[in-house]
Amino acid sequence: MEKDRKLIIAGNWKCNKTVAESLALVADLKRDLGSIKELDVVVCPAFTALDAVSKALSDSVIRLGSQNMGDNGYGAFTGEICAGMLRDLTVRYVILGHSERRQFQQEPDALVARKALAAHNASLLPIVCVGETLAEREAGITHDVVGRQIRGSLAGLTPDQVEATVIAYEPVWAIGTGKTATSAQAQEIHAFIRGVLAQEHGDAVARRVRIQYGGSVKPSNARELMGQPDVDGALVGGASLEAKSFVEIIRNSI
Ligand code: 13P
Repeated sequence: MEKDRKLIIAGNWKCNKTVAESLALVADLKRDLGSIKELDVVVCPAFTALDAVSKALSDSVIRLGSQNMGDNGYGAFTGEICAGMLRDLTVRYVILGHSERRQFQQEPDALVARKALAAHNASLLPIVCVGETLAEREAGITHDVVGRQIRGSLAGLTPDQVEATVIAYEPVWAIGTGKTATSAQAQEIHAFIRGVLAQEHGDAVARRVRIQYGGSVKPSNARELMGQPDVDGALVGGASLEAKSFVEIIRNSI
């Protein structure tokens, strides 16, 4: 389906794959996707594979993303990776505020916002994740939760920075569970998010922000999800770990 916004399909490999396995997957993706231009394709390997994958992608249209970074710059921050280091590896996107980090590392919105600002300042494009838990959905507070996450995680960004930020709506109950949001559920929240963006940053900015859906995206549901007017791509976990399913998702999204 034709949209003003270019679709962006990203694979979040999470804590999976050795360097050799990452390179094997990238080789298959390059072979199968060639010079695809209809949409933006991004792969987000673990930090340890970024350098090798970066080199492997040097002659490819597939873009490189990271799964996280610190909000700090260079300096005495043991164990952290900063935006400049990612730029040095030609990383272009960085996933921030994934629900697994919000849950397991207690990352609050304010930290996600500081990371998003640091990313933009280093010319990295953040993919900021939001989404409610099952308990929150059942309690009827999905809009409150997602609205607060959007406002808090983009706080302090300029309108241009917001426009260049990708949002990923990932309902926590749909991640890794095989339980996808229906296309109507996804569309409803995506439209809500665009409405919050319009309130906070104006209509023109809101119209240009790309909002991905994430949570058990598969070849069989990609077409229907991507057909929704406010769904501008996908953030894919499990199904991005194999070339066949990731490529099928991409093909079914065009
Ligand atoms: P799954 O596609 O495995 O549900 O994971 C979604 C996700 O968390 C992507 O960031």
